[in-house]
Amino acid sequence: MPPSCLRLHFLSLLLFTSSFLMINALTCRPDQIQALMKFKNEFESAGCNRSDYLNGVQCDDATGAVTKLQLPTGCFTGILKPNSSLFELHHLRYLNLSHNNFASSSLPSEFSNLNRLEVLSLASSSFTGQIPSSFSKLISLTHLNLSHNELTGSFPFLRTLTNLSVLDLSDNQFLGAIPFDLLLTMPFLSHLNLRKNHLNGHIEVPNSSSRLVYLSLGENQFEGHILKPISNLINLEYLELSSLNISYPVDLRIFSSLKALLILDISKNRLLPAGLSSGSDIPPSLESLVLSGCDILEFPNMLKTLQNLHHLDISNNRIKGKVPEWLWKFPRLSIVSLVNNSFTGLEGSSEVLLNSSVQLVDIAYNSMTGEFPVPPTNIIYLSAWNNSFTGNIPLQVCNRSSLRVLDLSYNNFTGPIPQCLSNLKIVNLRKNSLDGSIPDEFHSGALTQTLDVGFNRLTGKLPRSLLNCSFLRFLSVDNNIIEDTFPFWLKALPNLKVFTLRSNRFFGQLSPPDQGPLAFPELHILELSDNRFTGSLPTNYFVNWKASSVKINEDGSIYMGDYKNAYYSYVDTLDLQYKGLFMEQGNVLTSYSTIDFSGNKLEGHIPESIGLLKALIALNLSNNAFIGHIPLSLASVSELESLDLSRNQLSGSIPRELGSLSFLAYVSVAHNQLTGEIPQGPQFSGQAETSFEGNEGLCGLPLQGNCLSPPTQQPMEEDKEEEEGVLNWKAVVIGYGPGFLFGLLIAHVIASYKTKWFVKIVGPDNHKEVDPVSLFMSLDSRCDSFNNKRVM
Ligand SMILES: *[C@@H]1O[C@H](CO)[C@@H](O)[C@H](O)[C@H]1NC(C)=O
Ligand SMILES: *[C@@H]1O[C@H](CO)[C@@H](O)[C@H](O)[C@H]1NC(C)=O
Ligand SMILES: *[C@@H]1O[C@H](CO)[C@@H](O)[C@H](O)[C@H]1NC(C)=O
Ligand SMILES: *[C@@H]1O[C@H](CO)[C@@H](O)[C@H](O)[C@H]1NC(C)=O
Ligand SMILES: *[C@@H]1O[C@H](CO)[C@@H](O)[C@H](O)[C@H]1NC(C)=O
Ligand SMILES: *[C@@H]1O[C@H](CO)[C@@H](O)[C@H](O)[C@H]1NC(C)=O
Ligand SMILES: *[C@@H]1O[C@H](CO)[C@@H](O)[C@H](O)[C@H]1NC(C)=O
Ligand SMILES: *[C@@H]1O[C@H](CO)[C@@H](O)[C@H](O)[C@H]1NC(C)=O
Ligand SMILES: *[C@@H]1O[C@H](CO)[C@@H](O)[C@H](O)[C@H]1NC(C)=O
Ligand SMILES: *[C@@H]1O[C@H](CO)[C@@H](O)[C@H](O)[C@H]1NC(C)=O
Ligand SMILES: *[C@@H]1O[C@H](CO)[C@@H](O)[C@H](O)[C@H]1NC(C)=O
Ligand SMILES: *[C@@H]1O[C@H](CO)[C@@H](O)[C@H](O)[C@H]1NC(C)=O
Repeated sequence: MPPSCLRLHFLSLLLFTSSFLMINALTCRPDQIQALMKFKNEFESAGCNRSDYLNGVQCDDATGAVTKLQLPTGCFTGILKPNSSLFELHHLRYLNLSHNNFASSSLPSEFSNLNRLEVLSLASSSFTGQIPSSFSKLISLTHLNLSHNELTGSFPFLRTLTNLSVLDLSDNQFLGAIPFDLLLTMPFLSHLNLRKNHLNGHIEVPNSSSRLVYLSLGENQFEGHILKPISNLINLEYLELSSLNISYPVDLRIFSSLKALLILDISKNRLLPAGLSSGSDIPPSLESLVLSGCDILEFPNMLKTLQNLHHLDISNNRIKGKVPEWLWKFPRLSIVSLVNNSFTGLEGSSEVLLNSSVQLVDIAYNSMTGEFPVPPTNIIYLSAWNNSFTGNIPLQVCNRSSLRVLDLSYNNFTGPIPQCLSNLKIVNLRKNSLDGSIPDEFHSGALTQTLDVGFNRLTGKLPRSLLNCSFLRFLSVDNNIIEDTFPFWLKALPNLKVFTLRSNRFFGQLSPPDQGPLAFPELHILELSDNRFTGSLPTNYFVNWKASSVKINEDGSIYMGDYKNAYYSYVDTLDLQYKGLFMEQGNVLTSYSTIDFSGNKLEGHIPESIGLLKALIALNLSNNAFIGHIPLSLASVSELESLDLSRNQLSGSIPRELGSLSFLAYVSVAHNQLTGEIPQGPQFSGQAETSFEGNEGLCGLPLQGNCLSPPTQQPMEEDKEEEEGVLNWKAVVIGYGPGFLFGLLIAHVIASYKTKWFVKIVGPDNHKEVDPVSLFMSLDSRCDSFNNKRVM
């Protein structure tokens, strides 16, 4: 076909589809475009438009055949069928379908039609099942990425793929032994990732020198002595062997032959102490060393020789004593995590860190005492939370223009808060003994996103200069002695999401002077309990809370914090203190909303507009002087888990419709003037009697005695029993069954907040993902998730 003709077809197609084709697809033959469009139509693809889709297409200049297809992330949903038009694109050399949802399709054996493929990536695309043996025909492949799926079986097909240079099969369910003898004789293989599968067996390294540069084998079930063979892979630069689950301790000296090694991650293995002592011949080339969770008891002196060290992680061990002074002198040291050990302090003078090149330091969760050292000159991230440091917060933090994150929470610092918070994104000084007032020195353009000074002895007023913090998202001044009126002026902050004033001496009206709605559109969490607020709330009080009016499904929930930063991640944490929903320092997600106005002197009616807050999971209005009825609109707050209206002067009956709130795990309306029947249904009748006590006129389960005039007819005795059976079963599912309440309730809470421990400092060469599956696994270690905060 002459080129002019080709162009004509293209134009007619353009008119036909009335869509704009991007330049890449320009040279494509019409039949190829048609096949591409047919392929798209096989799927639900509302998430991406035609031009996005064709933007990832390339065709051969001469023949017009499609040679490259790079599907946009999240473009397709649906099954990949064996008769898919994809398999008509015989000239494809590059195919990337990763990060789409192929809905547990198995891999059609028709992939073998695409035998010109050099690059094939099907990562994170919900494929399941075995790899068809016909994959062995894809002999031109140089790059194969099948990671993050649920593929199983073994891989005989690999035998013929001798041109592979990159092979990533990580995070699947592959079984059996790896044909290392085969893989390591592949002449070009340089990158091999088999992490997180169910692989076992031995590793054999043939004599030929392998080109392997990158090897990741962690989280499998290898047996025998797999380490010795690895020590023959002398070109390795990256080696990841975490959680090997082998029965003998790892002797680091075995890696002394790997002279090119830059990155070694051997975390969650037991280590032989001899390999950690000085003189052990660790490759001095190492730049990044991760020894987290290795049950190390003494500071590894073998580190002394690693003068190139850039990133050191020895967190989650049991190392005692002081951190040696020499560590900080490594010329290129940048990231150090010593989190969760038993260190009692830092060796050397208070200036031991001063001249260090280190930029990210996390020494949280230790037992360090004494005065805090002068921070390093180039510090970006400084976390020392949960230690026992005393004395003043070092004023030099004011002179560190690179400092962005300062977390000294849960220590025993005294004295004032330094007058220099504007350049910090995160300031967490929670649970110390600081006094004075919060410095009123936030200048315009202040970077502050998170300010937590809760649980100190702060006095005075909220600084008006907070108004300069247009990025402020998280403000917590709870449990201090601050005496001020409600800061309506903060409504000018467009990003404020979390605001807690709990347990201070705030006073005055909570409703704006014009008696209009409270204007904090992004607010999710407002905790005002135990203050001295007065007055009533207008019925439209909550109508401007836009963010909390949208119900976000759990998958869409996002942490609050500075966690997308390339170098570190910080997740805002919060104490939630609701009945049935208590946690200390839980991660804050953007998907839920809570309100606590308890322990004030509020009066008037509960605003009907509360029903707009679809994301509300906890509401506590107890210990006030609210009057009138319980608003019917509460029945539409479908996510509600904890509702406390006790100790007010509410009257009327409890709206029957509240019985349909299926997540409600705790409800109390005790000590009001309510009457009538308690709504029937598991959520209400499963509560303790105390939830309803102190209301003369209430009747029905769980209170003793029947209501005088039964509102519905009594079912027959047999029916009733059957109904009860069903009820009990449902009740267990919902979580109120005996002994089950706590477990399930917590499970729900954690499921929605996930866990808070995850990689905190992300080394530039060692990106670790936050893996939703492993987050979920930590459901078992509930207490961990509850007691702990953020991590390296
Ligand atoms: C398709 O998506 C791209 C990028 O998302 C956007 O720029 C373009 O305007 C969209 N086109 C249509 C027709 O929606
Ligand atoms: C495949 O596409 C994803 C985006 O969906 C991209 O992140 C990845 O780098 C691509 N892989 C290759 C080998 O092109
Ligand atoms: C592909 O096969 C499915 C059955 O698996 C059938 O319903 C469908 O019509 C076929 N599509 C084409 C284009 O042949
Ligand atoms: C394989 O794909 C996953 C998901 O996109 C990606 O994280 C990983 O880096 C890829 N592997 C290689 C070797 O490119
Ligand atoms: C394998 O790679 C070599 C060198 O790049 C190339 O000449 C050869 O054609 C490739 N083999 C196949 C089957 O693509
Ligand atoms: C393996 O290599 C060693 C030296 O590196 C050599 O002595 C030995 O003969 C080789 N064995 C085989 C089977 O090639
Ligand atoms: C680790 O190994 C032990 C036996 O040594 C085994 O019982 C256990 O299941 C393994 N754990 C995992 C996660 O594979
Ligand atoms: C601290 O490390 C120990 C292992 O030494 C581990 O068992 C524990 O869970 C860690 N604590 C936290 C809070 O992560
Ligand atoms: C830090 O470096 C300066 C000059 O570079 C030097 O004068 C000072 O003694 C050093 N301080 C420490 C504690 O090493
Ligand atoms: C802080 O000091 C108080 C006494 O002043 C003590 O009771 C408390 O245990 C200390 N807390 C820490 C974390 O060291
Ligand atoms: C703090 O910085 C100022 C100028 O930015 C400088 O003059 C002063 O010497 C510094 N102080 C310390 C203790 O480094
Ligand atoms: C602080 O660390 C101790 C253990 O050293 C732990 O028991 C406690 O729960 C931690 N505090 C917080 C708030 O995580």
